[in-house]
Amino acid sequence: MDISRPAQRLGEAGQSHLLQFWDQLSPEEQAELVFELDSMDFKEINCFFKHAMEASGQAKQEKVDARMEPVPREVLGSVTRDRESLKYWEEEGLRCISQSKVAVLLLAGGQGTRLGVPYPKGMYDVGLPSHKTLFQIQAERILKLEQLAEQRHGTKCCIPWYIMTSGRTMESSKEFFSKHKYFGLKEDNVIFFQQGMLPAMDYNGKIILEGKGKLAMAPDGNGGLYRSLGTHKIVEDMERRGIAYIHVYCVDNILVKVADPAFIGFCVHKGADCGAKVVEKTNPTEAVGVVCKVDGRYQVVEYSEITLTTAEKRSADGRLMFNAGNVANHFFSLPFLKDVVNTHEPQLQHHVAQKKIPYVDMQGQLIKPDKPNGIKMEKFVFDIFQFAKNFVVYEVLREDEFSPLKNADSQDGKDNPTTARQALMSLHHRWILNAGGHFIDENGTRVPAIPRHGAAGTLSPDGSQNLKDGTDLPIKCEISPLVSYGGEGLEKLVNGREFHAALVIDESGIHEHVKNGL
Ligand code: UD1
Repeated sequence: MDISRPAQRLGEAGQSHLLQFWDQLSPEEQAELVFELDSMDFKEINCFFKHAMEASGQAKQEKVDARMEPVPREVLGSVTRDRESLKYWEEEGLRCISQSKVAVLLLAGGQGTRLGVPYPKGMYDVGLPSHKTLFQIQAERILKLEQLAEQRHGTKCCIPWYIMTSGRTMESSKEFFSKHKYFGLKEDNVIFFQQGMLPAMDYNGKIILEGKGKLAMAPDGNGGLYRSLGTHKIVEDMERRGIAYIHVYCVDNILVKVADPAFIGFCVHKGADCGAKVVEKTNPTEAVGVVCKVDGRYQVVEYSEITLTTAEKRSADGRLMFNAGNVANHFFSLPFLKDVVNTHEPQLQHHVAQKKIPYVDMQGQLIKPDKPNGIKMEKFVFDIFQFAKNFVVYEVLREDEFSPLKNADSQDGKDNPTTARQALMSLHHRWILNAGGHFIDENGTRVPAIPRHGAAGTLSPDGSQNLKDGTDLPIKCEISPLVSYGGEGLEKLVNGREFHAALVIDESGIHEHVKNGL
């Protein structure tokens, strides 16, 4: 195999070491390596490295803390403080949906390292009575919302679902959807596209080899979205379908209100080009980014980027000063997204994540380092807030809308399958109560809505469920999204009725078990 052309390109880019094991590779491995090298622009990668390292060095020197300001009140909408407007926003959002102007875009290219499963996170079953996966729950919420908009406005409509995957998650995600017949959605309206990958580099800017003929590659961060939207002509597809507004969200939040009409209606009503959904951060050390202004421009500052002193600062009302916790749910108008893709994308900097990256040493032995030995470069989805001309923030209740699945159950008891399952079931429990239904225990006594302290679960200071692994709430209650999107339409089913602790309501009816063991 002729190696002269790749060898020359690598030489010019200072990356010749990538061919150091060339003679030891089989012809197939050589062909694969050349194929991979041919697809890469080393000059550009070197440039990314240089800029990312400079920016990260600068960030270390001048901490962002002194330049941060909280979100001003005038751009803020809130489900609790603006109750009178909520119905109106919801109506507005539903109207846009009924006109097929709304699309949802799922960021599902992450590797789910912390959860530790070898398949995409969307395929994870958190152990609900129905055993539905995150993908299925989201798909059914889309279906239900289409139905609600159709019923309300009498027109057929569609919410296209764009799903960004990466080289690591594309095939298995697509297979999963196909196997499950797109969960009832039309195949044409589920559009997969793949984000880019970048090599991991050592601190001297050399690309790391994870095998003799294999580069250590990783997805380029959820902000890789904008480049891949351009590469795969997704904005054109949105234009062709008449989309005007896009709801972008992350795969891991079991409570996500996909295409949330109230959020969309709020943003549309405000004439916003870009918006972010937040929950109140009440615990200074909680691992969420905060939406704020830095040097007068909107940005998310990640929890790792500020000092504890700043994170702990409080306003006169006793709340955290920087309390707009990013739940990774964003609104973009199509013209704004188009502008970002066509104009601003190259200005977005990669962030540096120091990682322990397995590598082959000079002898070709695979080494697993026990401390960080290099970096991965990632763009972040919210780094485009700075380009917005009319940015708004929408605050929702954590217990209604945010319970991300990040960790495996065996870890620290936060943001894991147990907490995700509990969050969904206690939300559905509250829906039943709000619709006039009640739960009774085996003795016929009514069960309270909130678990008693020290019983099956406790609430942590940030309001999230703080449960021991494997423990369950006294109530198991799951309502299929095909029955209710956000608690609506349940009165006729449950008002004035009493249910036993394990209850599932789905399209086929009400299923109850006296013992808590569905
Ligand atoms: C993210 C947010 C953080 C927020 C938190 C809430 C970013 C950069 N950070 O943090 O501000 O408080 O969620 O839960 O958004 N993904 C890709 N491609 C990639 C990497 C990730 O599509 O290359 C997707 C993942 O599949 C996931 C989402 O982006 O759906 C978030 O990724 P994750 O690494 O879990 O972000 P966090 O650090 O938890």
